Amino acid sequence: MRSRFVAGNWKMNLSKEEGLALSHSIAKQEYKKGTQVVICAPYIYLDELAKITSSNSNVSIGAQNCHFAKSGAYTGEIAAAQLKSVGTEYIILGHSERRTYFGETNSIIKDKVDAVLDEGLKVIFCCGEVLEERESGRQEEVVKLQLQEALGHLDASSMKELVIAYEPVWAIGTGKTASSDQAQEIHKMIRVWLADTYGSDTAENTNILYGGSCKPSNAAELFAQEDVDGGLIGGASLKADDFIKIIEA
Ligand code: 13P
Repeated sequence: MRSRFVAGNWKMNLSKEEGLALSHSIAKQEYKKGTQVVICAPYIYLDELAKITSSNSNVSIGAQNCHFAKSGAYTGEIAAAQLKSVGTEYIILGHSERRTYFGETNSIIKDKVDAVLDEGLKVIFCCGEVLEERESGRQEEVVKLQLQEALGHLDASSMKELVIAYEPVWAIGTGKTASSDQAQEIHKMIRVWLADTYGSDTAENTNILYGGSCKPSNAAELFAQEDVDGGLIGGASLKADDFIKIIEA
């Protein structure tokens, strides 16, 4: 049985004071057994957030990126081992904002996936098509290539450390959510890809999240889809009430 999984991606938002208050609100809440909540915050808050969330076994801490090297002369970068040393358990990789603004290719993301798995951390791997690709009906082809090029080299046992987030880029921060049918269609395709690539156990046990303008008013319908196991939440994860409502959905 797959767990239910909701991760908040704060992106480059919130002061330290706001972030600590928000994570206190999330950590003091009780969640149903089998619900995994992850708070993906800016690097500099992770150390303290990990202490706050350690009181709640349903809640973990995640980073939003890392470097692919183990250590070395990479001014301004952060290694997976450093994130691990402050209590980080998950790292988001391949987010469309990293792909678009920082030139991350499938090949760079593949190296980062390997670096994170080498440290024994877990990956929230993002994939998704841009509007133009959706309008020309190429969404399945694009997502499959992202999966193949960044994850295709892994074995089934490494896949246990991965969560996949389908985030159609046209739905991120736009208020334009994918319909539950559109989400289910791609989630199903991802699960079939997992089955073909790693076998049916991996396909059955991998969490596939939806991300893109997910909010309290649409979370329940999206999460009711057979292959939607939860969400990766941007804007609505910045408010305790909204985020908790989404988790409860
Ligand atoms: P929004 O929920 O703000 O659309 O962001 C989604 C996202 O990019 C999460 O990683």
